[in-house]
Amino acid sequence: MDKPVLKVLSGGRPERMPIWIMRQAGRYLPEYRATRAKAGSFLDLCFTPELAVEVTLQPIRRFGFDASILFSDILVVPHALGQKVWFVEGEGPRLEPLESLNGIASAIDLERLAPVFETLRTLRRELPAQTTLLGFCGAPWTVAGYMAIGRGGAAHDGLRTLGYARPDFVDALLDRLVQSSIDYLCAQLDAGAEAVQVFESFAGSIPPGQFERWSLGPLTRIMSGVRARRPGARIILFARGAGANHIRIASETGCDAVGLDWHVDPMWAAAHVQPLKPTQGNLDPLALVAGGQALEKGADAVLEKLGSGPHIFNLGHGVTPETPIAHMERLIEIVRSHRIG
Ligand code: CP3
Repeated sequence: MDKPVLKVLSGGRPERMPIWIMRQAGRYLPEYRATRAKAGSFLDLCFTPELAVEVTLQPIRRFGFDASILFSDILVVPHALGQKVWFVEGEGPRLEPLESLNGIASAIDLERLAPVFETLRTLRRELPAQTTLLGFCGAPWTVAGYMAIGRGGAAHDGLRTLGYARPDFVDALLDRLVQSSIDYLCAQLDAGAEAVQVFESFAGSIPPGQFERWSLGPLTRIMSGVRARRPGARIILFARGAGANHIRIASETGCDAVGLDWHVDPMWAAAHVQPLKPTQGNLDPLALVAGGQALEKGADAVLEKLGSGPHIFNLGHGVTPETPIAHMERLIEIVRSHRIG
């Protein structure tokens, strides 16, 4: 059976445009909030396979998305490098800020992530036949901000300053994360992930002169490292805020598809990115919150501009907790009734 998402990632054209949504398992779903309340902490939810499988499957049962993304977080990697990570209710992640590489292990301890691999193995058995199972990790620059500064928000201003002031430390941290990401992604592929996405959520916090050193280089090393060990691996790269650098992401990193955030003009992407690589994204998550004309027009723009080339429908960033479920249902209806020309 052909899986539509895998088909796009392999350079083919399925009969209809596939759709999945970043953060599709989350607080906008009442069934997620119920399981989350049972789990205790957010990391307990990530590391209890039975519960992680359940929340991963919830949006698939409800909406029948074409891809199912492992329920976990990008910050399990610092955890498996021995850094202290916790989540503050209503605020977000916290880490004990890292001052030198002495504070972390020299390699990722995959044993500490055993529950994640068990979750993947179970999902692979339980998912519907047309649903692609996606694994993921954060990109080195994105994860390094949390590790060095200890929290989100202004983390990447802090990391940028550090990158200028202590370039050797930041380069070494990025390198450690490149190696850890390669090991982690290969292990996810071995446990049943059929493709993986790398989240460079803070590409927009890098000045042009540093883009190659802080983002493009590490990402390229991850792609070639994974491919050297798992030649058939399919990899999507989502670099939020990369702007015109999306062209370099498509042409230089070796990824199989390029995620587009909601800042990217779909007409520009159709002309400059899609001829190089299949695209994914880029509807504004707040058009989905608002619904009505904003949703109809936003979805139509993506379908019209990017629908004649290889594209996987998605939002331009994660779905937000205040999104009405009826709006998600309407979005799926719009995308499913669109015929590829
Ligand atoms: O997409 C999915 O459904 C898979 C699961 C997933 C989560 N986080 C679950 C989560 C994925 C792929 C991520 C990636 C992630 N995590 C990123 C990159 C993507 C992006 O959004 O840019 C980043 C930067 C993080 C770090 C992180 N984790 C933050 C900043 C927060 C707090 C923000 C928030 O929404 O509360 C988290 C927590 C988190 N990760 C939640 C979920 C569902 C919310 C936790 C809760 O239920 O309270």
